[in-house]
Amino acid sequence: MSNVHYIDHPLIKHKITMLRMETTGTGEFRKLVEEIAMLMGYEALSDLQTKEIEIKTPIEDSIQPVIDGKKMAIVPILRAGLGMVGGILALVPNAKVGHIGMYRDEKTHIPHPYYCKLPPFISERLIIVVDPMLATGGSLSDAVNEIKAQGGKHIKCMCIIAAPEGVETFTKKHPDVELYIGALDRCLNENAYICPGLGDAGDRIFGTK
Ligand code: PRP
Ligand code: URA
Repeated sequence: MSNVHYIDHPLIKHKITMLRMETTGTGEFRKLVEEIAMLMGYEALSDLQTKEIEIKTPIEDSIQPVIDGKKMAIVPILRAGLGMVGGILALVPNAKVGHIGMYRDEKTHIPHPYYCKLPPFISERLIIVVDPMLATGGSLSDAVNEIKAQGGKHIKCMCIIAAPEGVETFTKKHPDVELYIGALDRCLNENAYICPGLGDAGDRIFGTK
């Protein structure tokens, strides 16, 4: 499990606790998801390459580092992953955005794909897949299968809350992919919801329940 990064930061812990509370309303929930995504993105992108460029400050000419133009794609898993996109774009505003549509069957908990559109030159991009919840791991595993099938090679995934079952399933299927997790919870319940979790992330972001 060496490719799993459990992010250990007091700001992220605090915001995830606010996210979990059943009294947190839609507007606040959305804002927290975006802020957590930005803080997690800061950690997940800490190995981005830089290159030196020549600039002029008001004082003198100088050689300074900038991000080394590696093409990037953010890929949210619909719907809930959409809530994390703004947070990452705040860090890398020029990143392209792909979308993968996936919903879990309520009874079998098996994910069903319904949409996929990725940016061009996907094999050359650093791809950041975002989804707040990693429960059984089925949705994220299938999304990464699809990205790899379309040529994606350098993939990182970010999930705000994960269950141990999901981490195990995902890392077995995709040992080459780096996985960033904000909080590792106890287990799944009989409906494959994460405990203690935060409930249904999509419904809480979009106010559909
Ligand atoms: C949720 C969540 C993940 C998936 C996780 O989406 O956003 O995509 O469940 O569960 P898994 O690890 O067991 O596959 P959901 O299917 O509820 O769709 P939604 O985002 O459209 O509500
Ligand atoms: N999807 C969610 O939104 N929440 C869970 O706990 C599990 C899957």
